[in-house]
Amino acid sequence: MLAPTPAISAPRLSILGLTALLVCALPAALAAQTPAPPPQAVSSSAHTPTGLLLSDTTLTLRVDALRPDVLRVRLYPTTHPTQTPEDASWAVLPAARTARIPVTPEPTGFSTTSLRVSVTPDLRLTVSDLAGHILQSDALPVAWSPDGFTVTKAKSPVDHFFGLGDKPGPLDRTGEAFTLWNTDSFGWQESTDPIYKSIPFFLEMHDGRTLGVLFDNTYRTFFDFGRQRPDRYTFSAPAGPLDYYILYGPDPKHVVETYAWLTGPTPLPPLWAFGYQQSRYSYTPSAQVEDIAARLRADKIPADGIWLDIDYQYKYRPFTVDPATFPDFPGMVHTLAAEHLHTIVIADLHIADAPNQHYTPYDTGIAGDQFVKLHGQNYIGPVWPGPSLFPDFTRQQTRTWFGSLYKDFVADGVSGFWDDMNEPAVFTYPSKTMPNDVVHRIDEPADEGFAPRTALHSEIHNVYGMENSRATQEGLLTLQPNLRPFVLTRASYAGGQRYAATWTGDNLSTWNHLRMTTPQLLNLGLSGFSLSGADVGGFGGSPSPGLLTKWLMLAAFQPIDRDHAAKGTRPHEPWVDGPAQEDIRRRYINERYRLLPYLYTTAEQTSRTGIPILRPLFLEAPHATADNHPLDDDAPGEFFFGPSLLVAESPLPDDIAPYEVHLPPGIWYDYWTGAKLDRRQTLTTRDLEIKNPTANATPTLPPLMVHPALADLPLYVRAGAILPMQPLVQSTEEKPAGPLTLRVYLPAADATASTSSNDCSGDLYADDGLTFNFRHGDYLRLHITCTVAPDGALTVHIPQREGTFRPWWTQYRIEAVGFTPHTSKATTNGHITALDRTPLGWAATVPDTTQPQTITLQ
Ligand code: NOJ
Repeated sequence: MLAPTPAISAPRLSILGLTALLVCALPAALAAQTPAPPPQAVSSSAHTPTGLLLSDTTLTLRVDALRPDVLRVRLYPTTHPTQTPEDASWAVLPAARTARIPVTPEPTGFSTTSLRVSVTPDLRLTVSDLAGHILQSDALPVAWSPDGFTVTKAKSPVDHFFGLGDKPGPLDRTGEAFTLWNTDSFGWQESTDPIYKSIPFFLEMHDGRTLGVLFDNTYRTFFDFGRQRPDRYTFSAPAGPLDYYILYGPDPKHVVETYAWLTGPTPLPPLWAFGYQQSRYSYTPSAQVEDIAARLRADKIPADGIWLDIDYQYKYRPFTVDPATFPDFPGMVHTLAAEHLHTIVIADLHIADAPNQHYTPYDTGIAGDQFVKLHGQNYIGPVWPGPSLFPDFTRQQTRTWFGSLYKDFVADGVSGFWDDMNEPAVFTYPSKTMPNDVVHRIDEPADEGFAPRTALHSEIHNVYGMENSRATQEGLLTLQPNLRPFVLTRASYAGGQRYAATWTGDNLSTWNHLRMTTPQLLNLGLSGFSLSGADVGGFGGSPSPGLLTKWLMLAAFQPIDRDHAAKGTRPHEPWVDGPAQEDIRRRYINERYRLLPYLYTTAEQTSRTGIPILRPLFLEAPHATADNHPLDDDAPGEFFFGPSLLVAESPLPDDIAPYEVHLPPGIWYDYWTGAKLDRRQTLTTRDLEIKNPTANATPTLPPLMVHPALADLPLYVRAGAILPMQPLVQSTEEKPAGPLTLRVYLPAADATASTSSNDCSGDLYADDGLTFNFRHGDYLRLHITCTVAPDGALTVHIPQREGTFRPWWTQYRIEAVGFTPHTSKATTNGHITALDRTPLGWAATVPDTTQPQTITLQ
């Protein structure tokens, strides 16, 4: 994975003073950890109202404060001191890109109410917090040459790096190097780089303080997090702007939220997108699709979607249907809809070179001059349909045309669209994509900042897939303005979460790929893509029964749960391998459906905050360890599914040996049994070693060991959580029969003795699951709280509803886990009801009066 750093020479003569030379001579790691010698004062003319503008003979540095905690850094040749390069971005929202706040000038830089920035005369930047902790500092001046540039930052041994999208490998990127160049990567492995997406955003965690960096450059970029030198990290590009944003936490969640402010959060998808999805390359003919639907229903496997891969098309031509194998396509879509199953179709971007054949995408595309060019002609490259043309997606006009191609599918009732092969994949080797000198045209809305111009593929390649998914989403919004679109894309760039969900491409049916799914989806979430999944069961190869079962179990707790398989592999549907395996698989899919209110509530929060559905442990508990290293480093199989549920898969899921579960300090409950686990004493063996390496101490808390069996996936719930849950349904369109459950996990009653919070609360969000009516108030939102009295009585407060939406339930079932009743009665607004025993605790069922309610269980 070693990234070839562009050949950089640094011939530039800068205006280094003696102080600057001394700073240069400091070892980089030292420079990062000890206060740097005072840099020379910058001239007052370098200060701007919102930052700095500083030039030496060759380069100009511009730093602007967008918010107190967000900086934008740009560097460019000093040819026209007053003229900055094109101020534009595919990733950053115009309002964020152009935001500015006034700063306070300081002798060597400036400060905001969160950050202090200082600059040396050789244009090296140091960013600190106001307490003087250095958060980031240039170890070297930027190396700049005609072949590109490299930014070199100091790295300390306790730095941890996360993000960069779908890159395989461990969650923590420290010690690795990566290339960003969207690449069709069938059967990628842990060491494969690059793969499908380029998301040049990373988080740097240093002793509990987190910073984010978005390097907004669409060329083939390189990142090295200490691979070449452990005391430095670098990012570089062969061309394009040196334009990056620094996002300060210190809390990692705050950095992720700020990244959503910068690039936009993931919109709320339709509810059905969270149901189980059944796919295969390819279900054909249409009778087979209907058989699959019938079997899902007959076997009571809850499901919401069936996906059609390229074989439903006529000669693999996108936006066609093969009349021989799908003679009544709308009829089939309606048959599925009658079973409450959505139809999702693949519609790749390449348009078959099929003149005079009544192929509308070709005819209208040629008429409108919608394709990219090579040497003045439409570029033609081979993909599934044979020779194909490629839409020029960096033009608004081309996106509008492409978006209109979905019209017939929408009229037929197709619900979702799958944008595959959009790196773009071209069957030419070794590049697997179009030549770098293919010409794109840029013609964008003014606020994005791009002047109308041409651009070579080397600049556009990494945003091509994102602009494809944008065209799809925009087209669907034009065709059905009040329906939430659902688009799945394979390639993307930073900010692409605004347009589409994603999946991890062509993984393999191996235990190692199952294991790799967790860090990959976690890093995607940290990089903005909260709606993500991996082909369940693995795309290439045939999973063993046990592997398929485990994969279906784990995927029940991932944002997108889609079972998909390559041609020629054995069937992957939950019922293959007989009733014993199917029972386990069904049990987990059922649990996902019971948890839909919790999952949907989390997704709605994501759509406002950017905090992903799937979360590494450090995001929820950044200070869980004695030395502030991320707890995830000790627990690579673990993650949070939403704010309260911790999934603890084995770090080696094919290994039947017992393994240790690492829970952040606090009280936890076993999700399956309701057993309470007091993990408030944090002193583990490792913590003791860190605190006193010489003492031969024993941990105060024995490790939490689990002994996995195939059918077990350990899940834990934080004390104080309230999980909204629903009765089992077979699809999200089915109205649940029964009450909405609020499962309350009792907090520590002895709040003072507790090192954990005794907060007890949970959120509930609901809407129609399909339209944008929620934007006009047609939703329901509740922040439910609870308290435990000294005598053990549990009181749950349901406040006034926010929003006008009328949900499916008419009753609440308050289920208390970790609760011991004294009278076995519940009182609500003066009415007394009896508690009933449940497998996990005690419950009371009360009417939902739509008014505020206080329910006390005693
Ligand atoms: C490649 C995609 O990654 C895969 O999911 C799909 O099945 C094939 N293309 C065929 O469309």
